[in-house]
Amino acid sequence: MKQEMMKIVSQKQLAPRIFELTLTGELVKEMGTPGQFIHIRVPRADLLLRRPISINHIDAEKQTCRIIYRVEGEGTKEFSQLQSGDLLDVMGPLGNGFDLTGLNKGDIAFIVGGGIGIPPLYELSKQLLKKGVTPIHFLGYASKEVMYYQEEFEGLAETRFATDDGSFAHHGHVGHLLEEAVQTIPPAAVFACGANGMLKAVESQFKEHPNVQLSLESRMACGMGACYACVCHVKDDETGNKSVKVCDEGPIFKAGEVVL
Ligand SMILES: Cc1cc2nc3c(=O)[nH]c(=O)nc-3n(C[C@H](O)[C@H](O)[C@H](O)COP(=O)(O)OP(=O)(O)OC[C@H]3O[C@@H](n4cnc5c(N)ncnc54)[C@H](O)[C@@H]3O)c2cc1C
Ligand code: FES
Repeated sequence: MKQEMMKIVSQKQLAPRIFELTLTGELVKEMGTPGQFIHIRVPRADLLLRRPISINHIDAEKQTCRIIYRVEGEGTKEFSQLQSGDLLDVMGPLGNGFDLTGLNKGDIAFIVGGGIGIPPLYELSKQLLKKGVTPIHFLGYASKEVMYYQEEFEGLAETRFATDDGSFAHHGHVGHLLEEAVQTIPPAAVFACGANGMLKAVESQFKEHPNVQLSLESRMACGMGACYACVCHVKDDETGNKSVKVCDEGPIFKAGEVVL
């Protein structure tokens, strides 16, 4: 983990409140594992806490990385006003990321994403393809209006879409698409990132599956394991006291490991 003033190469709006930001700097050399995140200082003196955002794409050759974020509050609003050439104080890469070691050439992996949980799955899918694994993407959005990165995912592999309001493709939860797919395809691994409800659905659908990895979110402060702001409870802990830190022990956990 390092800290650097990274330079903004470009910023582009992809959908209402959704932005893609490309950054360049030495820090890109440290990046490699999909699912890791960067911790970004908001360029405003009164907002002290950094904001965690997942790495969406790493380009080692160009020494750039991309993030995709949704404007939620003051911090992300500030990010959205930045322009190419501006500098951003970045710490990272942080967290453990997805584990691809158990997968082999010819395997099929399900990649399940919802809303603003979709961005890190793009780098994951690229790296699976590099290993000879075939990903199938299942992406859920609130509506057609807030969809982004459809073509990027379709450009990598088969992609199935769902929208909560039925304005595009399957009407309903992304979990329905999974139910249908598992009837015919046995995946060697399932990777998911999105709201807790979606992660719970994935967990219950693949209860017996040995390789289901979920990317969790929590409110963070230090981002490196020191402040315990980001803890979540461990499942099957009789004392009820055991917890894990999402920032440095996660954000990826095996299904069944933590209480969602
Ligand atoms: C490991 C990790 C990876 C993330 N990756 C992405 C990403 O790729 N793209 C993206 O858009 N967002 C991502 N987030 C969420 C992002 O960090 C928050 O949206 C952001 O910090 C909000 O900052 P803000 O100042 O705009 O909003 P605030 O004013 O701080 O909060 C506004 C709203 O956002 C919610 N919020 C704030 N922080 C978080 C958080 N850490 N997790 C969930 N909700 C939060 C608050 O509850 C509130 O409702 C990630 C979070 C984590 C923990
Ligand atoms: S944010 Fe400080 S321990 Fe995780």
